[in-house]
Amino acid sequence: MSGGEREAMQTAIVTGSSSGIGLETSLALARNGFYTYATMRNPAKGKALVDRAEKEELPLQVAELDVDKSESVKNTIDGIMEERKRIDVVVNNAGFALVGALEETSMDEIKAQFETNLFGALRVMKAVISIMRRQAGGTIVNITSMGGRVAIPLDPIYHGTKFALEGITESIRYELQPFGINVVLVEPGAVKTNFFDNLKFAHGATRQDSPYAKFMSGLQAAAAHMVQDAIPAREVAEAIVQAVKSDSPQMRYIVGKDAQAMIEAKKSMGDREFEKFMSARFAERQ
Ligand SMILES: NC(=O)c1ccc[n+]([C@@H]2O[C@H](COP(=O)([O-])OP(=O)(O)OC[C@H]3O[C@@H](n4cnc5c(N)ncnc54)[C@H](OP(=O)(O)O)[C@@H]3O)[C@@H](O)[C@H]2O)c1
Repeated sequence: MSGGEREAMQTAIVTGSSSGIGLETSLALARNGFYTYATMRNPAKGKALVDRAEKEELPLQVAELDVDKSESVKNTIDGIMEERKRIDVVVNNAGFALVGALEETSMDEIKAQFETNLFGALRVMKAVISIMRRQAGGTIVNITSMGGRVAIPLDPIYHGTKFALEGITESIRYELQPFGINVVLVEPGAVKTNFFDNLKFAHGATRQDSPYAKFMSGLQAAAAHMVQDAIPAREVAEAIVQAVKSDSPQMRYIVGKDAQAMIEAKKSMGDREFEKFMSARFAERQ
């Protein structure tokens, strides 16, 4: 590929590309002709990704970006603008899940979860919106979750971050559409990644005498069941590519049969009926 061909490509940025959905999305965007910055907080983790990209001769490079840190976001976005002069696609993917009853979760743990999953995405959006507005176009993809529409027990703060990102996305779509900026939600169900190994348990929730211990072991059994049916990260990456290549992307892309079924169930039932349905699913596994 010539330097001129690379220059003419649209530019994409993906956060949290060291593994899972971010890694597959970076590869998929590069394969679909986007000059892709696969960003991660620790670029040393990008070696396997760089090797794969080099083997396929993909237009992809790894860049450092910690979504928790304003300076890291600013420096990386400034550097990309210097190199590419425009940013066409941003995928806010970096995230993890904090597990534990609210009573047993400290304020520091709550703030850390919001820092990455919500404030991280907001930081990146605030850094790119004025660029996209000036260039009169762009697409922002916010990876929320089936858990941004439906809440399961003992995961209140994770759901809080994802429900919040859903609400913010719905609102900013109105203010950004007139400038040609699309903002899209991608809502996967269970996906086979490091996500489940990287779950952070609130310190208080790990105590043996926790009053929620029995409930928690039921939840873990349900989670193990969900993981069995998890889809490959590549399927989420394909939905993201479909969204960014569309002239008129949907507001939401639900990925996975579990997510479809759960979101549909919530839509079709009243609150009381849905709560009973969910309680039965988790009670079954206690
Ligand atoms: N897997 C699922 O079942 C599932 C379902 C629905 C939604 N999601 C969402 O999908 C997204 C990606 O998760 P995944 O499944 O691909 O899990 P994953 O394999 O654990 O990947 C998470 C990525 O986020 C990165 N990250 C965490 N904190 C960060 C920070 N402060 N700055 C930059 N990067 C950071 C991690 O980097 P390090 O390697 O440095 O930790 C890693 O690259 C998350 O937002 C998650 O909530 C996942």
